[in-house]
Amino acid sequence: MSAPQTILLLHGFPLDSRMWTPQRSALEGLGYRVLTPDLPGFGRRKPWPRENCSMESFADDIHRLLRADTGGSAAVGGFSMGGYVLLALLRRHPEVVTAVMLMDTHAAADTPQARENRRNMIRAVPESGVKPVADAMVPRLLSSTAPAELRRHVFAMICSQNPAGIVNAQEAMARRGDHTDLLRQLRVPALVVVGQEDVLTPPATARAMCDQIPAGRLVEIPGAGHLANLEAPQAVNAAIVEFLRAL
Ligand code: MLT
Repeated sequence: MSAPQTILLLHGFPLDSRMWTPQRSALEGLGYRVLTPDLPGFGRRKPWPRENCSMESFADDIHRLLRADTGGSAAVGGFSMGGYVLLALLRRHPEVVTAVMLMDTHAAADTPQARENRRNMIRAVPESGVKPVADAMVPRLLSSTAPAELRRHVFAMICSQNPAGIVNAQEAMARRGDHTDLLRQLRVPALVVVGQEDVLTPPATARAMCDQIPAGRLVEIPGAGHLANLEAPQAVNAAIVEFLRAL
């Protein structure tokens, strides 16, 4: 199979398309067409009404984008929340996905504790704003050895998000279902990438996920946390390019 021309990358929470800057420039430099949309309520996208937000409605939004944009299909990568949207896309519109990149994410639904944590944030953000979210999340998104400049960059990206986008996405993630069964049914090549210091979706989770995918390939990124693509962009770019070239 020849390399796909279009690569679509779905960002995580509570971030936006800017998290893909290192991948975008590397892949475009190699001649790929790279789409990095903002999900509703993040980056430059206005929030949708809360009741319209779900991983499925976000996946339908991506499907519309792909259908309108090109030949209608792409190799799709999803980081964390973006991975949840990718799994919903695979469930609803598998024909638009030519290859899968699951990055620091997982396929299970929330545990009761994770749901409770989301509901706490949903209650707090309207009163306290986004800064406490950034304070709490930056140490969990990055490894303890991440440079201060990267910490400031991620902190600022979180602080720039719309509070309604954060609340709506948390509610949508709390309501998402389990997609573990999809892994066994995947009929396209899949790359699973995980930072070895990822405390949110740890390597053991990535290994278990990859083991279930018929054509799954796992790459662990040494010295990187959850946001491996920003902490170790060269290693993550190399994994992506090697995967794409083998398609
Ligand atoms: C993310 O990085 O997108 C989040 O950790 C996903 C989540 O909250 O489950």
